[in-house]
Amino acid sequence: MTPGRPVPPPLAKPITVEESGAAPVGGALAAAYGATSPESGLVPLTVARRAPKDDDVEIAIEFCGLCHSDVHATRAEWRVPHYPLVPGHEIVGRVTRVGSAVADFAPGDRVGVGCLVDSCRECESCLEGLEQYCERGNVGTYGAKDPRNGDAVTQGGYSTLVVVDRRFVLRIPEALDPAAAAPLLCAGITTYSPLRYFEVEEGDSVGVVGLGGLGHMAVKIAKAMGAEVTVFTTSESKFEAARELGADRVVLSKDPEAMEAADRSIDVIIDTVAAPHDLNPYFRTLRLEGALFQLGLPAEDMPPVSPGQLIRRRLAYAGSLIGGIAETQEMLDFCAEHGVASDIEIVEATGLNQAYDRMVAGDVKYRFVLDTSTLQEPSERADA
Ligand SMILES: NC(=O)c1ccc[n+]([C@@H]2O[C@H](COP(=O)([O-])OP(=O)(O)OC[C@H]3O[C@@H](n4cnc5c(N)ncnc54)[C@H](OP(=O)(O)O)[C@@H]3O)[C@@H](O)[C@H]2O)c1
Ligand SMILES: [Zn+2]
Ligand SMILES: [Zn+2]
Repeated sequence: MTPGRPVPPPLAKPITVEESGAAPVGGALAAAYGATSPESGLVPLTVARRAPKDDDVEIAIEFCGLCHSDVHATRAEWRVPHYPLVPGHEIVGRVTRVGSAVADFAPGDRVGVGCLVDSCRECESCLEGLEQYCERGNVGTYGAKDPRNGDAVTQGGYSTLVVVDRRFVLRIPEALDPAAAAPLLCAGITTYSPLRYFEVEEGDSVGVVGLGGLGHMAVKIAKAMGAEVTVFTTSESKFEAARELGADRVVLSKDPEAMEAADRSIDVIIDTVAAPHDLNPYFRTLRLEGALFQLGLPAEDMPPVSPGQLIRRRLAYAGSLIGGIAETQEMLDFCAEHGVASDIEIVEATGLNQAYDRMVAGDVKYRFVLDTSTLQEPSERADA
């Protein structure tokens, strides 16, 4: 426990989730929080992590960011997941053990794990370092079947320990604060990747729609790339904060006149909104051959996009999914070099449910990060 923090109340015997698919001989139990049904909220659980195999890295998790995707997933807003489900894919911690074939990580190293823990490693996408677009389906950090580990369902970072293949472990530069670096593993890379794909450079005009976890990282990263940044927000209360983050212009997206005034002023838009919304007013703000990348994945359908809008200015309407492992490392190094990290509010395990509600209400500046030292240690060991 962190000194001075309230101790979570004693727990009923937590459910043990067998991630390893078999009794974890040589493995370890991790204290965790996760959902047992769409309505359960987050409750204490215990995850049985596998014993590190030759290529594995065992990590004692220090911090894990709370992504809006965790809310969508645990509440079954996209599909009904396999329960119990321990979310969390913005993981930072220290290496505790490594397998015999691991040469590039050693106990004590500060490392990270993002949204991926494996992929087929041999399709065209994987060979190009685009593991997120693996043609056979990437293996997500939580809620995914893990073929190299007996199809066990992966469990995420709201826990004290995780075991991950070395190929999917990132190095966290020492210059970065570990808690503020955690959100880079999803919010950071998800916004960095389309900005790099569009080859944003000095003087380009970047629009960011939605100033939440992803949005605030998009502002910081685009500024660090030398772009002029316009924030589109539904919240008048965020105007000041957007400027503090570095935005050059802030537009209230609910105000048609303000939107019209932004006509043809932007090269690329990064849309991070977590709910359905009309994109057509944003297309009007794009210059010739501009692009809008939609990153938010709302549970319900979006209003239709007008083809005329796209055609008249040769616009591109694109999506983008997180980033590959090499690009994630590049982003971490870029952030360390440019002094970029997330603005965070630390939460304790017992505050996770309230944090979810606040995230859904847009009441966070700009990312909650779980301090895993507030998770209750497992009181008993699983059968070996
Ligand atoms: N493509 C990917 O690879 C990827 C990766 C991670 C997350 N995501 C998705 O990206 C979305 C954003 O994630 P996040 O973690 O950045 O979420 P977040 O922190 O909750 O931020 C979302 C922002 O969207 C804006 N918004 C406007 N209307 C909204 C509404 N009705 N409901 C909710 N938000 C509204 C709000 O900003 P304003 O107040 O400024 O309007 C809000 O702060 C989620 O759908 C998530 O699943 C996608
Ligand atoms: Zn995420
Ligand atoms: Zn693949």
